[in-house]
This record gives sequence, C-alpha cells and structure tokens, in this order.
Amino acid sequence: MIIAVDGPAASGKGTIARALASHYGIPHLDTGLLYRAVAAQVTRLELDPALEADAIAACDFDDHLLGDAILRDDATGQIASIVSAHPLVRAALLQRQRRFAHQPGGAVLDGRDIGTVIAPDADAKLFVRATPTIRARRRHDELHKRGSAISYDQVLSDIRTRDDRDSSRSTAPLVAAADAMELDTSFLSIEAAISRAIALVDARLQR
Ligand code: CDP
Repeated sequence: MIIAVDGPAASGKGTIARALASHYGIPHLDTGLLYRAVAAQVTRLELDPALEADAIAACDFDDHLLGDAILRDDATGQIASIVSAHPLVRAALLQRQRRFAHQPGGAVLDGRDIGTVIAPDADAKLFVRATPTIRARRRHDELHKRGSAISYDQVLSDIRTRDDRDSSRSTAPLVAAADAMELDTSFLSIEAAISRAIALVDARLQR
C-alpha cells in the first residue's frame, strides 16, 4: 500500500504522514529531507544553488547528513526550494524515492510531487493545505522552540517565496494530483487532522 501526502511548507503534511505510517504500520519517508540535504551540501561546498551543475554536484551526499539539525533551518529550506527546481536534481533523487515507495508492504511518502510524479499509482493521495499565515505561525513556533530568533514576518515572507517558487517551476510543480483528497488543516488540531486523514485514507482503501 502506497500513501502519498503532498502539500506546501508547514501545512501539516509531515505530521500527518508520520501518523499514517504509524497507524498502518508501514515506513515513512520525508522526501523534503533529500532536497534539504542537497541544499546543506551546496552550502558546505560553497556552491551556487541557482546553477544546475553546482546543485548536481551536491546530490551525492552521505546519508548521515539526513539526521543533521542544520537540515531543519529556515535558510536550508529556502536553498532546498532553489535546488529542487533543477530537473537534473529531481532526476538524481527520483529512483531512491520510487524504490522506497515500492518496497514490499508499502510506504508513506510526503513531499510536493509524490502523488503526481514519484508514485502516481499510490493507493491513497492526500493534498494537505492551510492558509499561509497559519502555516507561518506554526513554522515560527517550531523554529523558536529550536532556539531560532527569526521573526514571524520573515517566516511568512519565506513561506510565500517558497510557495511561489515550488508552484511555478516547470518540473514537478507543487500541485494536487487530480485524484488527491484535499485536507485543509487551517482550523484543525493535530489530533483532528490525523483522525480526518485516517478516515479519508480508510475510505479510499475500501473503495
Ligand atoms: O517542511 P517543509 O514543508 O517546509 O519543507 P520540505 O518538505 O522539507 O521541503 C523543502 C523544499 O524541498 C520545498 O520547498 C521544495 O522546494 C522541495 N521539495 C520538493 O521539491 N519536492 C519534494 N518532494 C519535497 C521537497
């Protein structure tokens, strides 16, 4: 069983994907971490994220990097959204994500293009939304808990920039798959969002 969870930054897709994985007893992959790892590697090697050749050179990262706290930084997310617009970067990370999706027993993946590109054959697809201001509030709280001094206005502006870049790129833009079930978490608690997600997936699996 493959479950695809897509949506913009801080929409709640990661929390929902992790909860679905635990509910159905299958592994989960946060695909954003792969693009964040490329971004961190670009920074470490002092490369230019806007240059496709530079970004490609950063795709060969050590898997240990995936656990590094630097990946969660707001700045890393911004650079991730620049490197992820390059078609060759997306191609370099594609097989790894497809292999994870198609492992025996199934998997939950969250990202931007899981339902459209990585696993168009997924058994259930969710597209998670929330208003930009609510997403900025959540991300700001999250970053503050981790010790960041970034302002709410900066987080909101970064989220809007990333939304625009992710939605307007020509390769695998952030868009709901035609057969995705929409879930707006703007006014839902975490528990309510998870229950709703499980109910939607159950309903789709029983069809
Ligand atoms: O956690 P958050 O939603 O803020 O970001 P993320 O899922 O870690 O993704 C960081 C960036 O990687 C996004 O802004 C996208 O540009 C890119 N990304 C992508 O292009 N495709 C994916 N499947 C996942 C992330």
